[in-house]
Amino acid sequence: MILVTGGAGFIGANFILDWLNEPKAEGIINLDKLTYAGNLANLDSLKNDPRHIFIQGDISNQGVVTQILKDYQPRAIVNFAAESHVDRSIHGPAEFIQTNIIGTFNLLECARAYWKSLPEAQKMNFRFHHISTDEVYGSLSLLSPAFTEAHPYEPNSPYSASKAASDHLVRAWFHTYGFPVVTTNCSNNYGPYHFPEKLIPLVILNAINNRPLPIYGDGQQIRDWLYVGDHCSAIRAVLANGRLGETYNIGGHNEKPNIEVVKIICQILDEIKPRVDGKSYAQQIEFVQDRPGHDRRYAIDASKIKHELGWQPKETFQTGIKKTVQWYLDNSRWVENVLSGTYRDWQKKHYGQE
Ligand code: NAD
Ligand code: DAU
Repeated sequence: MILVTGGAGFIGANFILDWLNEPKAEGIINLDKLTYAGNLANLDSLKNDPRHIFIQGDISNQGVVTQILKDYQPRAIVNFAAESHVDRSIHGPAEFIQTNIIGTFNLLECARAYWKSLPEAQKMNFRFHHISTDEVYGSLSLLSPAFTEAHPYEPNSPYSASKAASDHLVRAWFHTYGFPVVTTNCSNNYGPYHFPEKLIPLVILNAINNRPLPIYGDGQQIRDWLYVGDHCSAIRAVLANGRLGETYNIGGHNEKPNIEVVKIICQILDEIKPRVDGKSYAQQIEFVQDRPGHDRRYAIDASKIKHELGWQPKETFQTGIKKTVQWYLDNSRWVENVLSGTYRDWQKKHYGQE
């Protein structure tokens, strides 16, 4: 058994689906608070799969986490649970401090107590895998080399500062207590089940619903785009063979300015779902006020994971974005539930909270 936290969110759900796609895969306990970003419809296909056990709960809750560890005796924890949206962190940072810092601290402490109590062989094999972000490294200028694992931490948003703090806690638990951790820092994910507050799904859905496509500032901010399936395979590689106490950067080798990403999405839609008036979706682009503290460029040097673990991404941006646009067109029921908020009513009925 492994314990996954935040498994009803975008990357966590993709990870669970990918993991359980292997018929002989070991089971997963999924601990998720079901915030606005948690959506059990992402895991609908596992409804009757006994290998997936869902528990609604908060990683900050010591009683809940301790009980789960006692009951299920997982051999590893993969910590996806977090508040993840930079814009939300600017308007309300408190939840980010609570979940990303205090929550990670609580998870580490509960896991350490559990790990200490394990028989030697199980103790040796235990892993705590912390999922983090390239945003902890701050912003790069256009010509600077990409982030390596040795790049100093220079977070600029409440979100990235809270993730940086959590990374530091994880590191300290390794050096101080010998607790067996690995951390991965990845770039911008995209793909199925991405919540439509983030750039790529927002643009796809706004485009087909005839709404403006908002570009912050001049649209020249650069992100590296990683297809979520590639991220899942990288996590599996690190969980299996990553060296304890190490961090691994994961990137897609797809650096693009935001405006280019949006124009590519418009071109794909122009081909596969043309507007009724025959004009390009690009005419819906609107430049809007910039995000405060907006990082100019992220870029990942993923040579360490390639050389040590033989991992590299399979998708190019061209292949990944086409699949992603098509997924949103093919999954109108999922989209409708998310946009209307129906998924939250369902969760409230079954789990008593949104
Ligand atoms: P998401 O916002 O889609 O999902 C987060 C999930 O965590 C949700 O299901 C939510 O209900 C759950 N959650 C939130 N607070 C919780 C708590 N206190 N206890 C238990 N569950 C809680 O996020 P995502 O995009 O899937 O990101 C997953 C992880 O990957 C995060 O740690 C994020 O920082 C990191 N990350 C994301 C990206 C990206 O591009 N999305 C890139 C790099 C790193
Ligand atoms: O780099 C990894 C990070 O990627 C993760 O750690 C975060 O959890 C994840 O949310 C993502 O952060 P970003 O801020 O880069 O993602 P977002 O989709 O919000 O924005 C991508 C870029 O697009 C960013 O430069 C801001 C810009 N943007 C975003 C939105 C929502 C726009 O121009 N318009 C928009 O409407």
